[in-house]
Parts: sequence; structure tokens; C-alpha cells
Amino acid sequence: MKAAIHHGRSGLDGLRVGEMNMEEPGPGEIRVRLKTAGLNHRDLFIMKGRSSLDPPLILGSDGAGIIDAVGEGVDGWAVGSDVIILPTIGWNKTEEVPYVPQILGGPTNGTFAETVVIPAKNVFSKPEYLSWEEAGVLPLSALTAYRALFTRGKLQAGEHVLIPGIGGGVATYAMLMAQAVGAVVSVTSRNETKLEESRRFSVHRALSSSGNWNEDLKGEKVDVILDSIGPATFSKYLDVIKPNGRIVSFGASSGDSVEVSLRALFYPQLSWIGTSMGSREEFGDMLRFMEEHAIRPLIDRIYPLNETAEAFRRMTAGEQFGNIGLDLTFSCT
Ligand SMILES: NC(=O)c1ccc[n+]([C@@H]2O[C@H](COP(=O)([O-])OP(=O)(O)OC[C@H]3O[C@@H](n4cnc5c(N)ncnc54)[C@H](OP(=O)(O)O)[C@@H]3O)[C@@H](O)[C@H]2O)c1
Repeated sequence: MKAAIHHGRSGLDGLRVGEMNMEEPGPGEIRVRLKTAGLNHRDLFIMKGRSSLDPPLILGSDGAGIIDAVGEGVDGWAVGSDVIILPTIGWNKTEEVPYVPQILGGPTNGTFAETVVIPAKNVFSKPEYLSWEEAGVLPLSALTAYRALFTRGKLQAGEHVLIPGIGGGVATYAMLMAQAVGAVVSVTSRNETKLEESRRFSVHRALSSSGNWNEDLKGEKVDVILDSIGPATFSKYLDVIKPNGRIVSFGASSGDSVEVSLRALFYPQLSWIGTSMGSREEFGDMLRFMEEHAIRPLIDRIYPLNETAEAFRRMTAGEQFGNIGLDLTFSCT
């Protein structure tokens, strides 16, 4: 089968489209013939962290498709079912938080291929209101945004949430989900076009990432900040957050370390909260929440599988607004 395979070199240079063997599902597993898959920043980090000694890997955590083989002992799923993939492996109950969530597409083979074999617990029925493209790009980003906002950030209607880096996949879901519960949403971006785009979604304030946020927020303070950028913007958070506010961190796009004045944290009694991915339970809750509020993913662009490297170049350049996806149907027989 055709797949986007990473092998031989670190980074994007090690990515090529080639042939891999199609696997058979083992006990408790199913095989999904993929229609679409979604790119995540994680794929770039994985490619960067691999060396020429690592075995070939099919990347990709997100996808949607049709079950085409069912392993022994699998109940409730049949060949021909339309499914959406849960990328978190082995985390079922929300309160049983793993040390590091295991995610499809590294170290196990992922979704940038004609088919993928996964545990049967890792699929849900595809929501009918979503197109294949929408379902394929949704899982990882939407799950992360849902847990960050609600399970961990405890966002309430009427609270003001700031989402830095609105161009990102997770950020756009967070904007739509927060608006759906009646929160006031402000965003930042390095890019004026993306700020303009976010105004189309009636955000409260759209701020330049490099500007003076206090001035641009007209002195208003925020209750919650959803951080995935890290050091490039972190120091600004302490200027615009209310006493008792929550900073929810789930990414480190601009680096792993930030310097924080402990006094700036403890005098205003801030909470700094970590979050990562989400459980199987939360994935089900998130899909119901999205359907109830008729939230659809924002699709930036869909590329054919043989242009996967192009798709990643767009992500590396930070040109996207919303999710970048792959169409995998052209190679299906
Ligand atoms: N822990 C988890 O479970 C989890 C899950 C998903 C994602 N993540 C992490 O969260 C981050 C975002 O993921 P994503 O897939 O949504 O990424 P993405 O689509 O690439 O978006 C990242 C956005 O962050 C902003 N940004 C990046 N570098 C910046 C810098 N140096 N200065 C200012 N802004 C910057 C940009 O926004 P503008 O273009 O608007 O300026 C960019 O579009 C990544 O670090 C990813 O690894 C973690």
C-alpha cells in the first residue's frame, strides 16, 4: 500500500511517499481504509527527533475511513462501518492520567497511508454531519482543545479566554468551543491576515502577538489563557491575566523553558495547569459536544498523499489558518 514514510534522515528530508506492507489486524484490532488524515505539529517534532538508525515509520495521528478488516474477539464493529480515529492509545478513563499519553503515528505506524491497523477501542462512529475531510483532521487537535478548555481550564460561560497563536489547529477548535459555551474569546497572531480571519468569527479582540497586549485589550483582563507557544509569548500572559486566573499549557512551539517570577505567580494566586491530549471518555464527550453545537473544523487546505512534504512545508512556514489534511482516497482500489 502507499504511505508517507519517514526513514533515513532526521526532519522533513527523511519523508517520502512509497510502498509499505499492509498489515492484518490481530486480536482486538481492526483495520481502517483511510479516506482522509490530518497533519499536526507533533509530526514535525517526531521527524526532527528521529535519526538515520530508526526503522521506517508511517506518520499521522488523525484520520477517518471505513473498516475493512476486523480481528478476532472484536465486538460491535463490522466491515463497512464509517469511523473516526481516536489517536490516544490506552487511556480510557479521564481520571487515570498516564505519565505520557501514547499517540498513534510514532512509535506505532499511523494514518498517512491507505490503511492503518489499530485497537478497536480507538475508533468511534463517524459523526454524520461531518464530511470525510472534516472528520479526518479533527481528532487530535479537537480533543486537546476540549480537555484544555473544559476538563483542565474549567472555562465557564461569561469568562474571558485568551488564545495565543490563533493560526494553529488546536487554537481554532478552542476558539469555536469556547464561543459555543458563551465565553468571551480574544486571540493573538503574528499574522494580520489571520487576525482578520479570526474577526470573521466575531472574536472579542484580535491582538498582534508582538504588540502591547495590555493596551490592545483596552485594560480588560482575562480569566483563562491557553498556551501552546511558550517562551515567545509567555511573559506577556502575566500582564493580562486576572487574579485567580488559569494558564493552561499544552505545547512548547517556541521552546521548552520559560522564566517566571514566582511572585508574579503567587501574589495574584494564579494556577498554571498542564494538559495533554485526552482520554477515550473525553473523546466521546468532545464528539457529542461538537455535534450539539454544530461545530465544524476549519480546513485550511487538503493535499494528496504524494504532496505530504508540501503540506508540511506550509505548516512549518506557519501559513495555515486551521487544519491541514491529506486526501487518501485517490490511491484506494
Ligand atoms: N500536549 C498535547 O497533547 C498537544 C496536542 C496538540 C498540539 N500540541 C502542541 O501545541 C502546539 C500547537 O499545535 P498545533 O498543531 O495547533 O500547531 P500549529 O497548527 O503549527 O500552530 C501553532 C501556532 O502557534 C503560533 N506560534 C508558533 N510559534 C510561534 C512563535 N515563535 N511566536 C509566536 N507564535 C507562534 C502560530 O500562530 P500564528 O500563526 O497565528 O502566529 C502557529 O500557527 C505545538 O507545539 C504542538 O506540539 C500539544
